[in-house]
Amino acid sequence: GNTAPHNGSHGESADASPLTSKWKSDLYQSIDERYRVVKELVGSEKDLSQTCIELLKGTNLTGRGGAGFPTGLKWELVTKEQAETKYVICNADESEPGTFKDREIIRHAPHLIIEGMLLAGLTIGAESGIIYIRHEYGPEEAILKQALEDAYKQGLLGENAAESGKRFEVEVFTSPGGYILGEETALLEALEDKRGEPRNKPPYPGQFGLWGKPTLINNVETFAVAPSIIGNGPQWWADQGIGEFEGVKFVCISGDVKSPGVFEVPMGTTFATVIEMAGGVRDNKSVKAFLPGGASSLFLKPEFLETPIDFPAVKKVGSMLGTGAIMIFDEDRNLYDIATNITRFFRNESCGKCVPCRVGSEKGVAILESVFNGEYAASQLQVLDELHETLEETSICGLGQVALAPVISMLKQFPEEIPSHGN
Ligand code: NAI
Ligand code: SF4
Repeated sequence: GNTAPHNGSHGESADASPLTSKWKSDLYQSIDERYRVVKELVGSEKDLSQTCIELLKGTNLTGRGGAGFPTGLKWELVTKEQAETKYVICNADESEPGTFKDREIIRHAPHLIIEGMLLAGLTIGAESGIIYIRHEYGPEEAILKQALEDAYKQGLLGENAAESGKRFEVEVFTSPGGYILGEETALLEALEDKRGEPRNKPPYPGQFGLWGKPTLINNVETFAVAPSIIGNGPQWWADQGIGEFEGVKFVCISGDVKSPGVFEVPMGTTFATVIEMAGGVRDNKSVKAFLPGGASSLFLKPEFLETPIDFPAVKKVGSMLGTGAIMIFDEDRNLYDIATNITRFFRNESCGKCVPCRVGSEKGVAILESVFNGEYAASQLQVLDELHETLEETSICGLGQVALAPVISMLKQFPEEIPSHGN
């Protein structure tokens, strides 16, 4: 059966875990027991590095930060880099609007993140790991620090990490603050005490990362699921999903539902089911639209609520699963207003490094507001298409590339939401 709702957005009932079913029973042994299992795994594997890579590659696990890059391949690419110094970084700078799953994972399973980082460090040949955490996640930072202290005491970290004969240490770094600092290369700049602006990619951090060294950066959820895949194998992971879909996903549901929160669901669960898990639509209204993967994803009509939660399946219906942040908008919502607000968010968070993003996001908001106020005719909205194309092609990072995509998806699919003012 599935889980009790956990209200991530208001910080209530911090003891209720969103973790469910088999995953929970397999992973929620006592920490002593978990660490014994990890040490056994590390000790028994002659070629731990190759085993970890093969097991991860044997699954379809893709990065849980939102972009969905194949995890096994990422670990392999960094392993192949020849360098004396390498780093492992856990990106815990969770900031995508509607996204609060990593916070729950940190609260309930900090040791899984540490285990994932340890296995990653031993795989790629790194001796140090950094957990880069959002500055507003103070209580979670304290939980992580306590878990790290326990891991050192138990010998999971340190000079002879998990009795591997190798050193692996992990420290926590608090983000100076700001949405763009969660972008992996801006994060690296911040760690180097520079202005937190994204770098041009490629080179990717896997080749040229922290202080120019090969760096494996994964999201909190990616590290948290890695140990169970490595411990139980790809078939176990596949079996966690429904039918043809493999594995599990942490989703956050917010907006017009009765009980917003974080749920761990088998891949293949439909969006409609997650709405039910969240108590249904508020006031028993109907759904006008939803965002399946955070503010960077594209609006979908309610007919797509039966889509299975899975990266390719959501892409097929014209959006993206992204961070798994599902936002529900009921029949009374003004989608034009909501989409304009998302555009304002990107305008505000643009770091300003590239002109098209800095000026284009500002221009986009100005057009949307002018049409809303009746100062411009609705036909002016067509300019947004061209503006979006320019931003998509010329922006350095994902923020500029997607800044106008959600609002355009809304305008195309819900033209009736455009204010008319008699134009
Ligand atoms: P990306 O596609 O550039 O990269 C994804 C990951 O794969 C990165 O770690 C990158 O280094 C790696 N990668 C990509 N191509 C590679 C290659 N050829 N060789 C080696 N490594 C490669 O996407 P990006 O800009 O890192 O992330 C965009 C996504 O982030 C959005 O789709 C959005 O869903 C998500 N996002 C998440 C937030 C959060 O709070 N979790 C906040 C904002 C956005
Ligand atoms: Fe900064 Fe925007 Fe350029 Fe990204 S696209 S580097 S946020 S100006």
